[in-house]
Amino acid sequence: MCGIFAFTTKNGKNAAEVLMDGLMSLEYRGYDSAGIFTPESGSIKAVGAAAQLRRKIPAGFFGKSGIAHLRWATHGEPTEQNAHPHQDCSGDVWVIHNGIIENFKALKKKLETLGHTFKSATDTEVLAHLVEEHLKTEKDFTKAALLALNEVKGTYGIAMQYRGDPSRVIGARMGSPVVLGLGEGERFIASDASPILRHTRQVVFLEDGEVASITPESHTIYKLAGTKVSREAEHIDWNAEAAQRGGYDHFMLKEIMEGPEVVENTIRGRLRESEGLAKLGGLESVERDLAKMDRIIIVGCGTAYFAGLTGEYMLEEHAGIPVEVELASEFRYRNPVVNGRTIVLAISQSGETLDTLEAIREGKRRGALTLGIVNTVGSTIARETDAGVYNHAGPEIGVASTKALVSQLSALALLTTFLGRQRGMSAHEGREIARALRALPQQIQAILNTRDGIQKMAKKYKNARDFLYIGRKYNYPIAFEGALKLKEISYIHAEGCGAGEMKHGPLAMIDQKFPTLAIATSDSVYEKMASNMQEIKARKGPLIAIASEGNDEIKQLADDVMYVPKTIEMLQPILNVVPLQLFAYFFAREKGYNVDRPRNLAKSVTVE
Ligand code: F6R
Repeated sequence: MCGIFAFTTKNGKNAAEVLMDGLMSLEYRGYDSAGIFTPESGSIKAVGAAAQLRRKIPAGFFGKSGIAHLRWATHGEPTEQNAHPHQDCSGDVWVIHNGIIENFKALKKKLETLGHTFKSATDTEVLAHLVEEHLKTEKDFTKAALLALNEVKGTYGIAMQYRGDPSRVIGARMGSPVVLGLGEGERFIASDASPILRHTRQVVFLEDGEVASITPESHTIYKLAGTKVSREAEHIDWNAEAAQRGGYDHFMLKEIMEGPEVVENTIRGRLRESEGLAKLGGLESVERDLAKMDRIIIVGCGTAYFAGLTGEYMLEEHAGIPVEVELASEFRYRNPVVNGRTIVLAISQSGETLDTLEAIREGKRRGALTLGIVNTVGSTIARETDAGVYNHAGPEIGVASTKALVSQLSALALLTTFLGRQRGMSAHEGREIARALRALPQQIQAILNTRDGIQKMAKKYKNARDFLYIGRKYNYPIAFEGALKLKEISYIHAEGCGAGEMKHGPLAMIDQKFPTLAIATSDSVYEKMASNMQEIKARKGPLIAIASEGNDEIKQLADDVMYVPKTIEMLQPILNVVPLQLFAYFFAREKGYNVDRPRNLAKSVTVE
């Protein structure tokens, strides 16, 4: 959940400046405290985000190398004392860490009996002391680090330095991502490529159980056992600006506004419209196996889980294949019935969500074919699944997931067409889906153009303390997603509900102060939605509707209407979710909250 960034150079640059710039682009990974270390100037820490740390750095703070960290607290309060980097007793070994060292209590006890004293309540600090302990007998920093890492159990993405070998940085990965950047006379280690890309596009992804030892002109990768690993560098096309706000007040708004482009990028080169086929290069290696599969279990968390629920409707209705959707955090603790004819499909923007990753591993252990719909290239889920579909949505920085969902739903529509055509979907139906997918970018743009009206609506309802979101069929999961968006950035009570469930309980909550947002676009369940809205109206509940353009009659039922263009029923959620994202965004802004940094949340959940 934290961000790590390390740099070593022979080019005369001040590493402290490079590290601080890098931390700013990693901020979505954590922001409750930050810290930096260079062998020349020592360490500075601050509670809060990277900007707070930057303010504390004195003039003349310098380094030819260094490590820097953004923390999202797991063990120990978000205090300066618990902020990284952590040091050994001598102040020569410094460590930054993303993850959890599970056996830290036992290690700490052992180290204390050996005379080590601890300054923080973190699990991370034990590593610095362990390295210090090994340096007593093993003078080589890389070897001492390897010995220490072999004693540690848990998850980590790590960077560490030793004043006795100041131009070297050791990186290590076990369950938390680590990327090396290879520049001219300089090397980088980071949690992801975003802080590296402004310096170099050549990167190497570490695998779990690997340790990298870098100097300005070299990088060597080892297995934990000490054997060397050779790995080719990869070229990354994303530029660093792609991860910046691009003129909008918040990443969240920028990312909602990217919707049309995101759909275009997700479907680009993947539709053979005249034949009604989807061409998914990432599935080619398993194409034949896929034809034999008789069941899909989709796993994901949060927004990705709601994408999966919507996918269930698409896949069952159009591809005729039974689908179950499971919260990844539940799947891994059940005793799921999975066999060689089961697909376990993970949906994940980051590709690093630990529960989703573990669900995939569980599926694999039980013999399933594993697939991923993943946005982050080279992420752990992308690499551990047998095959998959990349979203190509570009980096998503806003903590609240928006463009990733639009892309995940588009990718699910592609997958539905792909699997459907293997199972008797007609070319005509395939063509209809392809045509409708191609029309989506323009339709999303039309919704985005109505954002001023949605902003006014958010203002009108800004004092509501509760919100109910209702929908049916394809829009049932979207009701849950709308509620999730509102609660995570506005901190108010919002609930999703299948509209058919209203009379079974939730209707009791409705009164003049309890607004409902009804997703009521013209589809096969519209009449049913309209009667649910009548029931709410009869209880004097304020009503906002999402309706299809041209439906004037709905104004007699709803106090306010957000209109969206019409598409085929299975793709309608991709349009309907956009006004819900905008409504949540403007609502949170009315409340004055920093929507890109909702309290208590971070972008990528790499712990349970
Ligand atoms: C909500 C949100 C989260 C994520 C969830 C899964 O706006 O962002 O619910 O959707 O943590 O994350 P990924 O997709 O990275 O696995």
